[in-house]
Amino acid sequence: MRKKILVPFLLLGCVVTFPAFAQNDLMARARQQFQPIPTTPPELPGNPATPEKIELGKMLYFEPRLSASHAISCNSCHNIGLGGADGLPTSIGHRWQHGGRNAPTVFNAVFNKAQFWDGRAKDLEQQASGPIVNPVEMASPVPHVVEQLKGIPGYKEAFAKAFPNEADPITLSNVTKAIAVFEATLITPNAPFDRFLKGEADALSPKQKEGLALFMDKGCSGCHNGINVGGGMYAPFGVVEKPGAGFLPPNDKGRFMVTKTPSDEYVFKVPTLRNVVLTAPYFHTGRAWDLHQAVAVMGASQLGIQLSDDEIDKITAFLGSLTGDQPKVVYPILPPNVATTPQPQP
Ligand code: HEC
Ligand code: HEC
Repeated sequence: MRKKILVPFLLLGCVVTFPAFAQNDLMARARQQFQPIPTTPPELPGNPATPEKIELGKMLYFEPRLSASHAISCNSCHNIGLGGADGLPTSIGHRWQHGGRNAPTVFNAVFNKAQFWDGRAKDLEQQASGPIVNPVEMASPVPHVVEQLKGIPGYKEAFAKAFPNEADPITLSNVTKAIAVFEATLITPNAPFDRFLKGEADALSPKQKEGLALFMDKGCSGCHNGINVGGGMYAPFGVVEKPGAGFLPPNDKGRFMVTKTPSDEYVFKVPTLRNVVLTAPYFHTGRAWDLHQAVAVMGASQLGIQLSDDEIDKITAFLGSLTGDQPKVVYPILPPNVATTPQPQP
C-alpha cells in the first residue's frame, strides 16, 4: 500500500509530508532529546557492585530495624510494589509525623543529576543516610544505626562478604554504599517509549505519538528531557505564573534552602516522568491526584499556555508510555534478633 503511494511521488520527484517521513522525523527528534533506560544497572563511581553488596543493600532497603521504631524501612515510603513511591501526599514517618514533601520514586533515581526535590544530596550514597537519621523519617542517630546492626549477629557475615578486607565493615558509610548499589538495580527499561527510541515505530499508539509531538512542540521537553525525562536540571515552579499556594506553599522555598541564592527561591529539581502514571499524587506537595490536572498546571505555570482538553489527554497518553518493566525483587530474609539486640523505641 505504501509503495503504491510512494512510487508516484518519487516519480514526480516530490518530497511531501508523508506519514512514514513524519514518523521518522518524530523518532529522530525524540532521539535528540531523550535516551532509553539501559537494560543493565549503571556502575557507581568508587562503589563497585558485587552480588554480595547488592544483596546486603536489598536487606538494608527492607530493614525496618534501621528505624528507631523498628517499623519503618526505605520500602515503607519507596514501596517497590507502588512504583517506588508511597502514594501519599507527604510520607508518614517516625511517630506518625509527616514530612513536608512528597516521596519521589527511587526507580531510575540513579540517573538523576542530584537527589531530593532541592538537590541537596549529590548522589544515592549521600542521599541514603538522610532518611535514616532524619527525626521525622526513621529517627535513628548514626551511633544507633551501627549499634543496632552490630547487635544483629547475622549482619556480621553479610557485611564481611560485601566489604571483604575491611576490619570493621559495619559502618554507616558502608550501609549507604550497599543501599546505593541496590538502588542502582531499580531501573525500569523497555517502556514503550524506550522501544520507540530504539526504533520500534509501533511501540507508541497514534495518540501517544501525538502526545509526544505536543510534549516536544509545546516545550515540556525543554525541562523534562534526557534519560529520565526529567531529573537533569532545576527550574522554578511557576516560571510564567505561580501555581497557587495549594501547590506552592510559601514556606518551602526549594533549592533556596540549599544555596541561599535569591534566584533559587521556589526552584525545584525537575522530576523524572518515568513511571509517572504509577506515582500519584504529584508535585513536591503531593497535592495533585490527577495526572491530567498536573499536566494542565504545568502548561499554565511553566509555559504560560492553556492546553486544551484534547492536548492534555494526548500528552497524558504519552506519559503512559513511560512505564517500564518494574523491578522484580525477591523479598529478602532478614537475620533474626537475639536477646541482646537493641530493642525498638516506637
Ligand atoms: C518516612 C518516609 C521515608 C523513608 C523511610 C525514606 N524516604 Fe526516601 N524520601 C522520602 C521523601 C519525603 C523524600 C523527598 C524529600 C525531599 O526532597 O526533601 C525522599 C527522597 C528520597 C530519594 C531522592 C529521590 C529523588 O529523585 O530526588 C531517594 C533516592 C530516597 N529517598 C531513598 C531512600 C532510601 C534509600 C531510604 C532508606 C534508607 C529512604 N529513602 C527512606 C521519604 C522517605
Ligand atoms: C521550566 C521547566 C519545566 C517545564 C517547561 C515543564 N515542567 Fe513539568 N515540572 C517542572 C518542575 C520544576 C516540576 C516540579 C514542580 C514541583 O512540584 O515543585 C515539574 C513537575 C511536573 C510533573 C509532576 C511530576 C511528579 O512526579 O510530581 C508533571 C507530570 C510534569 N511536570 C509534566 C510536564 C508537562 C506535561 C509539561 C509541558 C506541558 C511540563 N511538565 C513542562 C519543570 C518543568
